[in-house]
Amino acid sequence: MSQKQDQWTSKLGFILAAAGSAIGLGAIWKLPYVAGTSGGGAFFLIFLLFTIFLGLPLLLTEFTIGRKTQHEAITAYRMLAPGTFWHWIGKLGVATSFILLSFYSVVGGWIVIYLTRAITEGLAGREGTEFEQLFGQTISNPFLAVFAHLIFMVLTILVVRGGVQKGIERFSKIMMPALFILFLIIVIRSVTLPGAMEGVEFFLMPDFSSVTGETILFALGQAFFSLSLGVSIMVTYSSYLKSSESLPRSAVSIVGLTIFISILAGLAIFPAVFSFGLEPAEGPPLIFIVLPTVFSAIPFGSVFFVAFMALLLFATLTSAFSLLEMVVASVTKNDPTKRNKAAWTIGLLIFVMGIPSALSYGVMGDVLIFGNNFFDALDFLVSNIMLPLGALLIAIFAPLKIKKDELYEEIQKSSSIKRGLFNTWYILVKYVTPVAIIIAFLNVLGII
Ligand code: TRP
Repeated sequence: MSQKQDQWTSKLGFILAAAGSAIGLGAIWKLPYVAGTSGGGAFFLIFLLFTIFLGLPLLLTEFTIGRKTQHEAITAYRMLAPGTFWHWIGKLGVATSFILLSFYSVVGGWIVIYLTRAITEGLAGREGTEFEQLFGQTISNPFLAVFAHLIFMVLTILVVRGGVQKGIERFSKIMMPALFILFLIIVIRSVTLPGAMEGVEFFLMPDFSSVTGETILFALGQAFFSLSLGVSIMVTYSSYLKSSESLPRSAVSIVGLTIFISILAGLAIFPAVFSFGLEPAEGPPLIFIVLPTVFSAIPFGSVFFVAFMALLLFATLTSAFSLLEMVVASVTKNDPTKRNKAAWTIGLLIFVMGIPSALSYGVMGDVLIFGNNFFDALDFLVSNIMLPLGALLIAIFAPLKIKKDELYEEIQKSSSIKRGLFNTWYILVKYVTPVAIIIAFLNVLGII
């Protein structure tokens, strides 16, 4: 077999895979619960600003590096800055992806459990706050939580071992729009519940009195998390890309979709939270408590619930593929003969690493690291330290190691971006992004 880079089978394939990586638990599961604990509307507004002014430019930066070099991340940095330590950005990305997937897959497992339950017993005449207890009972069963996490990891491995994922491309074209439509149905139900407006206000009306340095760092981490930035996944993905795709247009559509689904998620969750008298600061279990509650208030709710959980599982898997792909590609360096073994070995190691996270809402609930359970501690490490750090290094790297004209030339290929817009992007990456990230770090450390 040739050693040449796999290419996406269609133009759409790349967009779907990159959007599939971006859209997942970040927008649907994480954003609502982090917004719920960090001040609602103000958090969401800051997150939006970061997404547009830092996330979008950085996404384009990762795309540019990947397509220019046509190699997975570590090799890409080596090619652009030979003999330097810069390829450690790629290694940091691999380590981050590894840890991230270990707890991401645990939530993937929760979805597997909920989907199975939805199919076998529907919503079973439960209502309102009963779903809160149900979550506790379900997730605190150690065997179930670990087994579901294993199933999710095996599903991920099975796809990634096959190489650039042809089947998924075809699948995504139907699944993504279906997910949007179901979300719209939930939103309509949620905002028409009695007392829902309080939730809409909580989510959309910023109240800056609750904003702290931590809120800002969390919003930054959330922006990178939900766009899959900071670990060079988008470098690896766009390295499979020929020059016929417009990078700026791809970046804008992915950011647009992510923002859209984030708004839908917020409008699905918070009105229902307030209407049913639930707690917005519930943490990671939030959507697993709120969504069944909303579905139980919709005619044929059980059917919709099954469909929604299936689509959510799909969206979560396409993100998980990208995380495993990132680690696998760094080991196999596109040698297809190593792929199968690497996918299984790495995937199972990630499974093992995730076991304590799977137990964090059950038997290991009392094991605290800096006041957080294992799951939350890993999430904090990844989302609020490793991702912003990776993003910072990428933003410093690109303008430093690639000539401005070369960047322009690469971005310009098959897009007709004007010089002025290019310059804006350049300034956002070179100055605004590093300064913002450094200020956020220093602020949380209490230095400024
Ligand atoms: N963006 C995905 C989500 O929102 C998660 C994800 C996939 C990710 N790959 C990533 C997050 C790389 C950070 C970095 O669910």
